This record gives sequence, C-alpha cells and structure tokens, in this order.
Amino acid sequence: MTSDTIKFIYKDQTVKIKNPNPNETLLNYIRTKLKKTGTKEGCAEGGCGACSVVLAELKDNKINYFSVNSCIMFLPTLQGKQLILVEDLATDNDSLHPVQQAMVNCHGSQCGFCTPGFVMSLFSMFKNYSKFNDNLIKNSISGNLCRCTGYKPIIKAAKSLNNKNKNDQFDRNKKKTIKLLEKIKNESIVIYKENKRYFAPKYVQELKKILKKNINAHLLSGGTDLSLLVTKERKDIDSIIYMNSIDELNYIKNNNKYIEVGATTPLIKFENYIGKYYSDFNNILKRYGSVQIRNVATMAGNIATASPIGDTLPLLLSLDAKIVLKSIKKTKIVPLNNFFLDYRKTKLGKGQFIESVRIPLFTQNIFKAYKISKRFDDDISSVCASFNLKIVNKKIKNIRIAYGGMAPIPKRAKYCEKILSNVLITNEIIEKATQALDKDFKPISDMRASSKYRIIVAKNLLKKCFLEIMNKKLIRVAS
Ligand SMILES: Cc1cc2nc3c(=O)[nH]c(=O)nc-3n(C[C@H](O)[C@H](O)[C@H](O)COP(=O)(O)OP(=O)(O)OC[C@H]3O[C@@H](n4cnc5c(N)ncnc54)[C@H](O)[C@@H]3O)c2cc1C
Ligand code: FES
Ligand code: FES
Repeated sequence: MTSDTIKFIYKDQTVKIKNPNPNETLLNYIRTKLKKTGTKEGCAEGGCGACSVVLAELKDNKINYFSVNSCIMFLPTLQGKQLILVEDLATDNDSLHPVQQAMVNCHGSQCGFCTPGFVMSLFSMFKNYSKFNDNLIKNSISGNLCRCTGYKPIIKAAKSLNNKNKNDQFDRNKKKTIKLLEKIKNESIVIYKENKRYFAPKYVQELKKILKKNINAHLLSGGTDLSLLVTKERKDIDSIIYMNSIDELNYIKNNNKYIEVGATTPLIKFENYIGKYYSDFNNILKRYGSVQIRNVATMAGNIATASPIGDTLPLLLSLDAKIVLKSIKKTKIVPLNNFFLDYRKTKLGKGQFIESVRIPLFTQNIFKAYKISKRFDDDISSVCASFNLKIVNKKIKNIRIAYGGMAPIPKRAKYCEKILSNVLITNEIIEKATQALDKDFKPISDMRASSKYRIIVAKNLLKKCFLEIMNKKLIRVAS
C-alpha cells in the first residue's frame, strides 16, 4: 500500500498529515504545529539533547522505545511510530512520571532548559532496562548537555529509579498502543510537495524501482549527517529516499566467517552485538555520538558519508571489511579499502546503494582500536586508530593498521604495516614502525587538532597497542 499521508500515534490517537514538507524537522512540527514547547531547540545539530523525544515502534509485536534528536529528524520519518513528548509523561490526574518525580526529588534542574531532554533520555532508559547502574545512566545521558545544574543530581535522580515501580501508564496502555501501531506500520510513503519528493519504500524491490526513476535522489538513513544540510547549511533537499523504512535491511547475520550488517541496522543494535567478537569495536561505538544518534544512525551512512573522521571506518578497514553495493540490476562486493577515493568521494555511483557491510571474523587475531577526541562523550575523533594482527611463534603476521583523522580519507598505514610484517616484536621494530607513519600520513591542522598533534598521537597509539599486547603477556618482546 502506498500513501501520501503519514500516520503516527500521538496521545492514543492516530494523527494523519497529508503531504507534509519532507524537509520540515520533527522539532519544528512539535513546537509550531502541535504547539508543545516543552521540547527545546539548543544546537539544531544533534549535539545538546535539548530536543530529545521518545519514539516507539513495533518490533516482533513488542513496543520498542528509543530516544531521538527531533531537531535532525525529518517529519515524514515519523510514519508508523508513536511520538512521546515530555508533556505526555505526567498522567491526566497530574501525577508526575517516576522519572520526572525523581528529577524533582533530587534537584535535577536549575534553569530548566535542558531538563525536558534529560527527562526523555531517562524515560527511554526507564522503559528499556530494569536496573540502572552508573555506566548505563552515564551512557543514557551522554547526549544531553547541562550547563548549570551539573550532572550529579541528575545521575542521583536516575539511580533512585532503581527503587521505583516500573509499571507506568505506558505499560498499562500497551495493548491499545500495539493495536494502533499495528494498523499503521505497513504503508510505503510517496510525497510530492511543491518541488520536493519523498519516498519511504518498505522493500528493496520497491527501492530499486524508485531509484530507477529518481537517480539523483538523496538516500536518507538515520539522517544524522544528511539532515544537517537543512538545519545547519539552510539548504533544501529536493528529493529524498528514506532507507530506514526498509525492515528487510535491518539485520545482523553471522556465518562464522563474517558478520553481515544490513544497511538500515541502527548502530545501537550493532554495538550490542559486536562486543562479543571485537570488544574494542563496542568500546568505540559507546563513544560514538550519543544514544539518540546511535538509535537511528547506520554504518552504511557512516561509510557513504566517507568522512576522514568517521569512527567505524578505520576499524572496518583494519578488519578488511567489504561492502555489498546494489544497483537496479547488479550486486557488487567491494573491499572497503578500495572504496574511498578522495575527501568525501567514494566509488558509490548514481543509482547504487549500500545493501550491507561484511566484517570478517578473525578469531585468532588481536584487535585493538582507540579514539582520541577533545571530549570523551558525544564528540567526533581527532584521531582514531585500529590494529588487527596475529602473533605466530612470537612473530607478527597479517597485520592491518588503519587510521582516521590523518588523511583526506580513512586509510591503511601501508608503510608501517610493511615494517611490522613477519617480524619479531622488539622495541627497535616498534620505533621503526612509528617512524614509518611519517611516510604514511601528512595530516592537516584544523579546529580539532594540529598536524603535529595528530602525528604524535598516531605514533603513541601504535606504541600503546604493542605495550598493551606485551603487558597482557599475549607475547613477549624478543631480546
Ligand atoms: C551529534 C552528532 C554526533 C556524531 N558523532 C559521530 C561520531 O562520534 N562518530 C562518527 O563517525 N560520526 C558521528 N556523527 C556523524 C553521523 O552520525 C554518522 O556519519 C552516521 O553514521 C551517519 O549515518 P546515518 O544513517 O545517520 O546517515 P545519513 O545522514 O542518513 O546519510 C549520510 C550519507 O550517507 C548516504 N547514505 C545513507 N545510507 C546509505 C545507503 N544505504 N547506501 C548509500 N548511501 C547511503 C546518504 O545519502 C548521505 O549522503 C555524528 C553526527 C551528529 C549529528
Ligand atoms: S537541539 Fe541540540 S540536539 Fe537537537
Ligand atoms: S538546568 Fe540549566 S542547562 Fe541544565
């Protein structure tokens, strides 16, 4: 079924909007059309969390709650979901939701500008977990900035939720919500609004047909890069094909040789999965944007953006990942190592899309990755480094090293790899390898870091990697 009308659930009602503007943000709609001004605008680029709202959608007949930054989400992507705002948490008889009450009890608010965003992030945590420890709480609010209360009272409020009854009005209303969501979940959307077009297909076959006729359309997944064209650069995007409506591409498969991640799989789902195989991949993802960002952003989007500081890219390069590129008629499997051509230029052609990413499983290898950024949470890397190697009879084998932030593209350190191939680990060889990084990279200076800083950090990360390997007695330095 195709429709020009998006439908979503708000306050137990199905709301219909015919031909919405595909470039309107959800935040704008909430504040100016729904007239709910509890949700705030701070940065308009996904960085402060003031605009956080919670969405719910049906997954395997269960309700999945997740927080998003409404400032960088386009209104039509609300199709098929439930919208929950800070105004909706208190019950009709005005008793506060446990999350709100906890913030009051623990003095979690001063000027209050950030408070609705924090409340919604904590509400999402409250709905998704049964116990709230320090790590979970800090992770849940890592995308919310507060400049006056400080974080301690907010963390205290979150901790106090451990003693609260988890049964809230949303639980009590569950059956009704599931019925409402069930009715609106299966529609493909096609919008023609003045000079703008928006397509949200449900299946890959449908996507291909749309692509064939709209070869210049922008593919939109989580929108955490693309939407900034509208919110920051004040440009219009005339033609959009929304990928994340395709559930068929939301999967993680494992055939014991490689893990395959479908293009519309949100990073948060992948983050929870990959830790079993590559724990440092999970560590890096935990510091990737925020929960709000990772709830919608995809690895495919990170790859197609081809930013030199895209965090998954050096990791995927060192793991020798391949991408499955689809076009209307053909499928191509391309090593990621050949995909990046120049600054934000890739081999992705018109009419092509990334269908999935394949990550080989190196069960005998040591995998390490490091992210250096100005701020620990919710910040993009200055330098990101990733190492994948095997030690056989104390010798380094099959080493792959990749860096982000060191060149116009995320890139393997070929000279350095050569020095470290098939050799015993000695302090001299590690020193020689760090010097080879000068041949591999001539980084630029920008607002994140100077060229000099970047090269020193890159060398130190290489040393750190081997020191950690040696200290863990995974190998010994040859004398
Ligand atoms: C606040 C904030 C924090 C961030 N923090 C980080 C961070 O820590 N590390 C980091 O690496 N990035 C970060 N980013 C950048 C961004 O989140 C990532 O690049 C993200 O992975 C993009 O994925 P997406 O699904 O949102 O892509 P979108 O924004 O939907 O799309 C990005 C680009 O990819 C193309 N595209 C999308 N899907 C496909 C597909 N299937 N096939 C072909 N092309 C496609 C789009 O056309 C577009 O050009 C941050 C962004 C924000 C706003
Ligand atoms: S307004 Fe700052 S994250 Fe949306
Ligand atoms: S209470 Fe003022 S910014 Fe957080």
